[in-house]
Amino acid sequence: MKKRLLLEQERIQKRVRELAEEINTSYGDEKLIIVPILRGGFMFSADLIRHLRMPVEIDFLTTSSYGNATVTSGDVQIYSDVRSNLKGNHVLVVDDIIDSGKTIAHVKDHILSKEPKSLKFCTLLDKPSRRRVEISSDFVGFTIDDLFIVGYGLDYQGLYRNIPYIFVFEEDKE
Ligand code: IMP
Ligand code: MG
Repeated sequence: MKKRLLLEQERIQKRVRELAEEINTSYGDEKLIIVPILRGGFMFSADLIRHLRMPVEIDFLTTSSYGNATVTSGDVQIYSDVRSNLKGNHVLVVDDIIDSGKTIAHVKDHILSKEPKSLKFCTLLDKPSRRRVEISSDFVGFTIDDLFIVGYGLDYQGLYRNIPYIFVFEEDKE
């Protein structure tokens, strides 16, 4: 299969800096607990938090829904929970992409039960045409079409998360 470049490294990094500025403006000097969703959100969140200026605490949540499929099973599970006490704190959950919306909807209920002061979501990518539950992300980097994309934290069968740009696999033409 051939790789077709969708978002190059420089374009992603520029947008990440812009998103960080939106977040800086939105929270000011208030302490913020950033919760990247693993595994997909690790690279985006690591780049994003370098540009944040408020006091930042970082914690992690691991979810799974896809297995090795490219379409969600919809059965979202929390594999490992945050360790911090979120109660009374501003929480920003960071993920790679919002697709059906089921992951974020599940994480939303889960985190709200911990009584944060506020809860928002930041996703690098958004595929609104695939939404199955009514939910949106508060900070979005790029809105994309219904394509299965890979790289910059997003995997295909567990691989390619390390690639610093985002691409689509295309069938080889004869
Ligand atoms: P949702 O629950 O359907 O919104 O799916 C969210 C999760 O599915 C993301 O955190 C990704 O891990 C994964 N995902 C959704 N679309 C893609 C894609 O195009 N490529 C790779 N992973 C994806
Ligand atoms: Mg994910």
